Amino acid sequence: SIFKDATEASKAVAQEIAGIIRRKNAAGKPAVLGLATGSTPKKVYAELIRMYQEGDLSFENVITFNLDEYYHIEPDAVQSYHRFMKEQLFDHVNILPENCHIPTGTLPLEKLSAFCQHYEAMIEELGGLDFQILGIGRNGHIGFNEPGSLINSRTRLMTLDITTRIDASGDFGSLAKVPRRAITMGVKAIMDAKRVVLLAFGEHKAEIIKKAIEGSVTEAVPASYLQGHVNVKFVLDEASAAEL
Ligand code: GLP
Repeated sequence: SIFKDATEASKAVAQEIAGIIRRKNAAGKPAVLGLATGSTPKKVYAELIRMYQEGDLSFENVITFNLDEYYHIEPDAVQSYHRFMKEQLFDHVNILPENCHIPTGTLPLEKLSAFCQHYEAMIEELGGLDFQILGIGRNGHIGFNEPGSLINSRTRLMTLDITTRIDASGDFGSLAKVPRRAITMGVKAIMDAKRVVLLAFGEHKAEIIKKAIEGSVTEAVPASYLQGHVNVKFVLDEASAAEL
C-alpha cells in the first residue's frame, strides 16, 4: 500500500495492530507481537499510545518480542533498543514488563547461543508471532539480518555491515562507537510470523524498496525473502515508492 505520508500510513498500521490485539483477546488469548526499532515505526507506536490513552485499547494481554539489540550494550544506554522501546511505547501503555522481550545486549558470549534458542522457543510456545512489524535498512536488512543472511537463519549474533554502522553513527556520536555486532531474530522467525508488515518512508529508501519488491529473491537483499511470505504487506509513502 502506498500512502500520502508516514502519518497516514502509520495510522493504518496501528489500526491493524489494534484489530489483532482485540481479536485475539476476544478469543481469550494473548496477542503476540514482533516489534521493531529505528525511526520508521515511531509514529505507529505513538498512535497505539494515543488509542490506549483514549481508552480504546488495552495492552494487558499483549506479549511482545523485539527483533534485535546491539551487542554489547547496556540496557539504559541512550542507543539501546531496551531504552528505545520504553521511551517510544512500553512506559506509556499498560503492558506488563514481564511480557516485553528484547534480546539481552549484556550477556557473556558463551551464554548467547542458549539465550537465542530460548528466545525462539518462547515464541514457539506461544504459537508464533501474530504480527511482525519491520523497517528496512538501506542495504536491505530486516532486523539485523544483514546481506548474506539465509532464509532459514536463526536468532543469532550478527556482525554489522559497514553501511549499517555508518547509518547508526549519528546515534552513537561516531562510527568507532557503534557496536560491531548485534543479536537479531533470524529470517526464519520473521518468515514464520502469521502476518508481516514492512514500513519504509522517505526517498532514501526508494532504491532498496525497488530491489526488495521487484528484484530477485536473494540473500544479497534479505528483505526480498518477504516476496515469498503468504501474508505480507509493504507500507510505503510516496517517496519510498517513487522507483516502483
Ligand atoms: C536498524 C534496525 C532495523 C531498522 C533499520 C532502519 O538497523 N535494526 O530494524 O529497520 O535500522 O532504521 P530506520 O527506520 O531508522 O531507517
